[in-house]
Amino acid sequence: MSRENGVRWDPAQYGVFGGARARPFAELVARLGDAAPARVADLGCGTGELTATLAARWPGARIDALDSSPDMIREARRHEIPGRLSFRVADVTTWKPDAPVDLIVSNAVLHWVPEHPDLLPRWIDALAPGGRLAFQVPGNFDAPSHVLLRELGRSDRWRAKLGHLQLDAPVLDPAGYLDLLARHGCAVDAWETTYAQVLHGEDPVLEWVKGTALRPVLMALDPDEAGEFLAAYRERLRQAYPAAPYGTVFPFRRIFVIATRNTT
Ligand SMILES: C[S@@+](CC[C@H](N)C(=O)[O-])C[C@H]1O[C@@H](n2cnc3c(N)ncnc32)[C@H](O)[C@@H]1O
Repeated sequence: MSRENGVRWDPAQYGVFGGARARPFAELVARLGDAAPARVADLGCGTGELTATLAARWPGARIDALDSSPDMIREARRHEIPGRLSFRVADVTTWKPDAPVDLIVSNAVLHWVPEHPDLLPRWIDALAPGGRLAFQVPGNFDAPSHVLLRELGRSDRWRAKLGHLQLDAPVLDPAGYLDLLARHGCAVDAWETTYAQVLHGEDPVLEWVKGTALRPVLMALDPDEAGEFLAAYRERLRQAYPAAPYGTVFPFRRIFVIATRNTT
């Protein structure tokens, strides 16, 4: 495990729901149609499994994939293809390519970068004319999983330890991204999808959140406190997401954006 941007990433925990997390990525890149980009950047590539699907789709592309987590990049290097697909540790907020790129992909990353509305115009400027930026962010910050996390984190018991954490929605709506990027001269396709996911196992919503939104919370607590917090949160999640005979329904809203830089 490692700590970056105040969050400790654990490739194994993140991978527990790999299938469900892969689908929005696949649906995002499916919208790119018959594009054949020569230079691609995957910003916040994580374990690189999804980046590898880009290399398979565009054998002629040169893909530069980066992530701020050394643990994630260590995992990702298994997918390296000399001359075609490379992985490196770097922060997306300071990323600047040597030459314009044809496609920037960033999947499930920008909600960890609250200042990203200021960053996106710079990414557009890094595109070649006609190049595209494709990203996806979770849009479930008003779902019970997150509302309960915020309520608990700001309760009298935890406020002193957790009150400083950014637990509010760090993303815009599809229309917000459309407005931002259209004003920057892009043609924008922005949409949202809610996946009615069925999770299995004991406390599956808790296990899901452990891979993402719970990470900064648990990092801010010592092991005893973390145990106490988890017990209280688990109880609330069980009531909000009761188990059905076929599994536990965990609706998950996601926001998708593809912005095309104009050709002039
Ligand atoms: C939820 S994972 C998504 C990984 C991958 N894109 C995927 O879809 O499987 C979020 C990733 O964003 C990375 N990340 C967060 N903030 C970052 C930053 N400022 N610079 C680079 N990577 C960042 C994390 O290290 C983590 O690997």
